[in-house]
Amino acid sequence: MTARQLPGLRSMRRFLVALSAVAAVATPALAAESASAPTFSKDISPILQQKCQQCHQPNSIAPMSLITFQDARPWARAIRQRVITRQMPPWHIDQSVGVRHFKNDMSLSDQQIDTIVRWVDAGAAEGNPKDLPPPVPLVTDNEWQGVRDGFGPPDLVIRSSEYTMPAKHQDVWYRPMSDIPLTEPRWARMVEIRPTNLKGRRIVHHSIAYLVLNNDPDAVNTGTANTVNNGGGSAGLDDLSVRRPQLMEWAIGKGYDLFREGTGKLLLPGEKISWDQHLHAVGEDITAGSEIGVWLYPKGQEPKKRSYLIAFTGLRQREYLDIPPNSMSHTEGFTVLKQNTLITNFQPHFHLRGKAMQVEAILPDGSTQIVSYVGRFNFNWMTNYIYDDTEAPVFPKGTVIHVTAWHDNTRNNPTNPDPDQWVGYGDRTVDEMAHAWMNVVYLTDDEYRELLAERKVKAEQTKLSLAR
Ligand code: HEC
Repeated sequence: MTARQLPGLRSMRRFLVALSAVAAVATPALAAESASAPTFSKDISPILQQKCQQCHQPNSIAPMSLITFQDARPWARAIRQRVITRQMPPWHIDQSVGVRHFKNDMSLSDQQIDTIVRWVDAGAAEGNPKDLPPPVPLVTDNEWQGVRDGFGPPDLVIRSSEYTMPAKHQDVWYRPMSDIPLTEPRWARMVEIRPTNLKGRRIVHHSIAYLVLNNDPDAVNTGTANTVNNGGGSAGLDDLSVRRPQLMEWAIGKGYDLFREGTGKLLLPGEKISWDQHLHAVGEDITAGSEIGVWLYPKGQEPKKRSYLIAFTGLRQREYLDIPPNSMSHTEGFTVLKQNTLITNFQPHFHLRGKAMQVEAILPDGSTQIVSYVGRFNFNWMTNYIYDDTEAPVFPKGTVIHVTAWHDNTRNNPTNPDPDQWVGYGDRTVDEMAHAWMNVVYLTDDEYRELLAERKVKAEQTKLSLAR
């Protein structure tokens, strides 16, 4: 074979390989298609029950019900588009980098997406209603996500007073106080904030429950440092989270914070909740506030460690966030971990121009590791990604958490109200910000080494069982 013949031969071989691949795939698939195109009754209804109906039911937060064939059929094209772009269900994290397993994963499997696409492409047929699965009981209206996910009702519910947001008004920050009705110290293992009624979900953009402490200095996070913090002055406001402990931060689309087994947040008698609720007007008078559900550790099973909620932010955003009209822009922030740190969840927070966020760790030895990347951020969904225990990233003290945030101020961003406006840092929804909300647990050197050793053993075992 001469060198000159090679390219021709190679491309011929490639052509033949491609041809046989097409033949191998296409013939049986075509033959099978008419016989076994997915039908609503048999194939689609079970997926909708499992992954969509908790929201898509009558009188819910979603725009349409997806229960019956008659409900779903007119939406077939829209469903195809939303699932193929992985906008629905609202799970926008890139599962090919960083942490890949989560405690609250609601995404569709590749196979489920494929089934939906084939159903729509083959004409979205109903099939035989006898194939329908029995209907699932619907949890209507404003139910806790924790209840939907099988954790049972919260042990304690603390409610704020309500506010009437007029039909037309600029953004409002509503900041009432509530007492915590406890007569003895108790540890929270899970917390969830929700608007006090379903309509309230339309006006409450975020709701933060700050803890007004009753002599409990250990509740304040001291394990991180960044330039914003140390700079003081107005820039220091960025890190209220570091100085005022949050029991929880909630924003539109978020569910609960579930603390890692053996960790939690301590509540003491006499403490209060100071609410920070960001409301917008939506063209109709709506009255609502917020309430926080607290799932407690049983008495006698108190955890050993505190979980701290931290907003890792872009560097000095207040001065430097600068998003010109009709452009994409990015900011970066750096925070030093002063302790060995376990990160248990990630919830990106932006406003209308939010596009993507990456969290990376820069280790003391100079190596880097992607923690998480959300590339399909959507303003309606401040989804909380709760890391599986075995994958929750753990870093030695001295590690730098590097957050990169991208804003999309172009016409391509469907939530952008006006791409011709310059946008800077601010609290109104038309202003911008970028926070990576994460719950962390600090480990002593011994605990840190122990956890690493434990994971090494597990990894070896997995390798062995895979090899077998
Ligand atoms: C956690 C609640 C939730 C889940 C789970 C969910 N949706 Fe949605 N869906 C919504 C809400 C709220 C909207 C409207 C806001 C938006 O577009 O993001 C929506 C919008 C949509 C739209 C666009 C409707 C329009 O007006 O064009 C489609 C299509 C859709 N969902 C399909 C699905 C499918 C299919 C599933 C399951 C595979 C699903 N959704 C799961 C809450 C949910």
